[in-house]
Amino acid sequence: MAAHIPDEKIKAIKNASDIVDIVSESVSLRRAGRNLLGLCPFHAEKTPSFTVSPDKQIFHCFGCGAGGNAIDFLMKHGGLSFPEAVGDLAKRYGIDLPTRKMSPDEKKKLTERETILTLNGNAVSFYRECLISEARGRQAKEYLLKRGMTGKTIDEFNLGFAPDGWDQLLRHLREQKKSARMARRAGLIVARKKGDGHYDRFRNRIIFPIFNGQNQPVGFGGRVMDDALPKYLNSPETPVYTKSRSLYGLNRARQKCREMQTVYVVEGYFDLLAMHQFGIENTVATLGTSLTADHVQTLKGFVGEAGKAILVYDSDQAGIKAAQRSVAIFQKGLIEARILVLPKDHDPDSFLMAQGSDDFLKAAEQSMGMIPFMVESAIEQYGLSIDGRVRIVNDLKSAILAIGDPVARSLRVKQLAERIGVDETVILQKVRRTALTPSKAVWMPGRQDMNKAAPAPIHGETYRLERQMVAMMLQFPEMINDVERRRFTDHFTDPVLAEIGKGIIDHFAHAGGDIAGLVSRWEDPEKKAVVSRLSLIDEHWDRNGCMNLINQFAASIRRRDNTLLKSIEAAEKSGDENLLAALLREKQQQARSGMKKQGNTNQ
Ligand code: UTP
Ligand code: MN
Repeated sequence: MAAHIPDEKIKAIKNASDIVDIVSESVSLRRAGRNLLGLCPFHAEKTPSFTVSPDKQIFHCFGCGAGGNAIDFLMKHGGLSFPEAVGDLAKRYGIDLPTRKMSPDEKKKLTERETILTLNGNAVSFYRECLISEARGRQAKEYLLKRGMTGKTIDEFNLGFAPDGWDQLLRHLREQKKSARMARRAGLIVARKKGDGHYDRFRNRIIFPIFNGQNQPVGFGGRVMDDALPKYLNSPETPVYTKSRSLYGLNRARQKCREMQTVYVVEGYFDLLAMHQFGIENTVATLGTSLTADHVQTLKGFVGEAGKAILVYDSDQAGIKAAQRSVAIFQKGLIEARILVLPKDHDPDSFLMAQGSDDFLKAAEQSMGMIPFMVESAIEQYGLSIDGRVRIVNDLKSAILAIGDPVARSLRVKQLAERIGVDETVILQKVRRTALTPSKAVWMPGRQDMNKAAPAPIHGETYRLERQMVAMMLQFPEMINDVERRRFTDHFTDPVLAEIGKGIIDHFAHAGGDIAGLVSRWEDPEKKAVVSRLSLIDEHWDRNGCMNLINQFAASIRRRDNTLLKSIEAAEKSGDENLLAALLREKQQQARSGMKKQGNTNQ
């Protein structure tokens, strides 16, 4: 736990915050009884198993097992550290955090991310000033206006200008007593190859600051204003900037994505700005890197269960290739994706500037589903010769196999058969053969989910009973006293459940039934997940049921003990000294762990 935030403050923050508010910002939830349900932002799933409990202030995904309280959610989802997550909550709920002097060590650990974010913030303002400044920024401003950007867009997206010269930003940061080493870590300046010193990474370029979902400036892109190369220069990866997770414009697109249950995915900076300027604000940009599974998980959180993504790519060969790759990733992420291919030589920016948003939205209505798109682009690529048709089927078989719904799958096969003039049964055969080869390229819909939802039952009856005991303690706390008095947790064979059981007894004695607080006793995500799962697992407890369980548990302890005694007898008879020693050790251990006399548990 962070040493610099006092415990009372953390408690106050936890009391003030509502997990439903926090999760709703990135996952669309619907009510299901006492809880809320949504698509898990941490793994691919089609049917929601991500559960949020307003009463208990915890979340749990019954698909992938992620679970915890509001702070855990912010940490896991936003990639925040514990102090950052607490700070985020404090800000939201208007709670002042006292700042006390930190030890150098604390400072170092805590502040690398924060220092970089502050430096980036500093650079955002610096570049902005330079754009506004008459003398320096005129050319840049003219460039932006010439490209149709309005003053409003320039403001809202904090566009800037990195002036020419080698050390403009560097000098500015130095005047503010900022460390060059950290500015280099932030990717703002670059170490000289020869000798000492640094120089500005971005020079004489239009600057596009990149913000994360929490509105923090994580990186930059810079464009030249002529035909010089490279056209765009980007920040390197830093402790706050991971390209495979970042989406340009996400901070301004979240709300609209949620409303429309649709997100447009474009490629470039100007494409994104144009989309927003033309009122299509549910748009993010991948910035020329290929789309990743992380991107898809993030987007899924915003558009929700029934939502979809519309990929808008250039119609050139590179654009089509990128679209094909993205299609596969969306398919794996279990989110519906459509492809909008713009007329030749257009990207979203040039299309909007030339024809406006009505035409764009009309074109979007005509966007193709993933399979038809793949069929059409394969036909374009290979042609309809015999050889071409073989390749087309080969290219498409995994995608067809990945369609979860059997009716939809058979219709797709039929469509493809008709479109390319190949017998339906032959295509089906190929698809089936793909299903039988355990190739890494083949992805089976539902499999992942199923595997995660139902882990192999490696645990036996004892484990099941212990889990139920813990679930009972969490959901019917009146029984905790009984469990404590009869020292049942001492008999738990599973060490994780034993620790959790003891934790519950200790925690509830001090903090009542506060489960969200209980969760934060452990840093280990597995323990958090066990607690959240057993708190929410659907069971209706009443006093009778609890008494039954307790009796069953007591009986199982007796049974285990009897078995042990019998084994000891048998080992004595057979004269197996090693076994006997082992069994006696076990017996001793049991006695030590709190069991008094046999039959004592039989009340
Ligand atoms: P494009 O080459 O399609 O450029 O690159 P664009 O977005 O249409 O840019 P304008 O309209 O000419 O200004 C698409 C995206 O790929 C990344 C950028 O994010 C760009 O917006 N890219 C491109 C780079 O990172 N570096 C480059 O040199 C080129
Ligand atoms: Mn462009």
